[in-house]
Amino acid sequence: MTLSFKVMRADDPFRDRYARGTRSMTASEIRALFAVASRPEVVSLAGGMPFTAALPFDVVGDVLQEVVATEGPAALQYAGGQGDPRLREVLTDLMRHEGIRGSGGDVVVTEGSQQALDLISRMFCDPGDVIVAEGPSYVGALSAFSQYQVDVCHVPLDDDGLDPDALAATLERLERDGRRVKFLYTVPNFHNPAGVTLAAGRRERVLELARRHNVLVLEDNPYGMLGFESDPPDALRALDPDNVVYLGSLSKVFCPGLRIGWALVPPALRERMILVKEAADLCSSSFTQAVAYRWFANYPWRETLKDLREVYRERRDVMLDALAEDVPAGVTWTKPTGGFYVWARLPDHLDARAMLAKAITARVAYVPGGAFYADGQGASSLRLSYCFPPPDRIREGVRRLAGVIDEELELARALGGLPLEPPAPDQSRPAGWGGVQ
Ligand SMILES: Cc1ncc(COP(=O)(O)O)c(C=O)c1O
Repeated sequence: MTLSFKVMRADDPFRDRYARGTRSMTASEIRALFAVASRPEVVSLAGGMPFTAALPFDVVGDVLQEVVATEGPAALQYAGGQGDPRLREVLTDLMRHEGIRGSGGDVVVTEGSQQALDLISRMFCDPGDVIVAEGPSYVGALSAFSQYQVDVCHVPLDDDGLDPDALAATLERLERDGRRVKFLYTVPNFHNPAGVTLAAGRRERVLELARRHNVLVLEDNPYGMLGFESDPPDALRALDPDNVVYLGSLSKVFCPGLRIGWALVPPALRERMILVKEAADLCSSSFTQAVAYRWFANYPWRETLKDLREVYRERRDVMLDALAEDVPAGVTWTKPTGGFYVWARLPDHLDARAMLAKAITARVAYVPGGAFYADGQGASSLRLSYCFPPPDRIREGVRRLAGVIDEELELARALGGLPLEPPAPDQSRPAGWGGVQ
């Protein structure tokens, strides 16, 4: 089976006319996979879809009805470009959980945080600029950045998140080379795709480095309220309000169907951000903003969030147990304390992208690690999500995946004379990645 991810077709009559920023765009592997992996016989450990079936639909129905009954005409009307002021206040309350003392006046509501990633890139990036980002990084952010023809420069992660020494070296090198770094993109909590969290002790150092090199920080935090054992440390934005744009999202703590995200920007950026948002779509949906406002202002959302966390915690446990039981030696993986994802590393000679067709034939899907890098790294890594499939399917999916890896290792041994014993851990890998299983 071959899987093609290219969007540009030789017979496309418009292919010479596309703008440079979209010419080289390729369909995300995640999207291409959804088509194949959504077949019922395939266990998909690929997509990062929240488990919306766990929401209390009777209560959600009440909220929808209340919005129509009490503010129907306004809720079906255009709204201000910055977003519903009531919702912005509620979002400010949510951010207090992460130590942020922001004002609703500095919040801009967006169509999911994905739109905020696009708008911030549009505000700051010219072709040839540099964005520094974790390696690996959220694939949707990489595709938003790619439209602006920037160079993404990856800084490695370990079990404690972004490596500040590597960040310092990267920023120094880029400065020496005369490159313009427009921002540092980071997902500090329960990282997508790596599952790790930036340690409290590293946060000040990362911020200090960004300030020293005159680099804005773009903190993307859709998973921060999904900690299983404890809450993550205070947000970067809480520690440096003047140099951090904070992105939040209701997609994982409520539902993605409303498409509500937001940016909390330093006051100096607010007017420009609103102008860019209005140029993009005039305003976010008044209706879904009203629903979100009422959900967080008047309903027991904390109970729902607790239930969601419990669903995901159980699935995380099942995945980690299954990996420990089934997957052959030589494979390592992260141990998330929240969020949706496990990042696994195969022995270096295995290629996760090449292995995917076999995996799908064995009725299990994952996302090959290369999708999370802009520069071709990640070949022997893969992302596994535990958020959507029920526990027994996760167990079965990991069992199938383990079988595929076993076969690949056997084949590599037979063809290439690889050692019969699994390879010793690779000491050159970043500290921490190897010892987590
Ligand atoms: C790290 C990260 N940022 C942003 C998004 C976009 O989320 P949304 O646009 O639904 O708010 C996602 C979605 O998976 C994500 O994982």
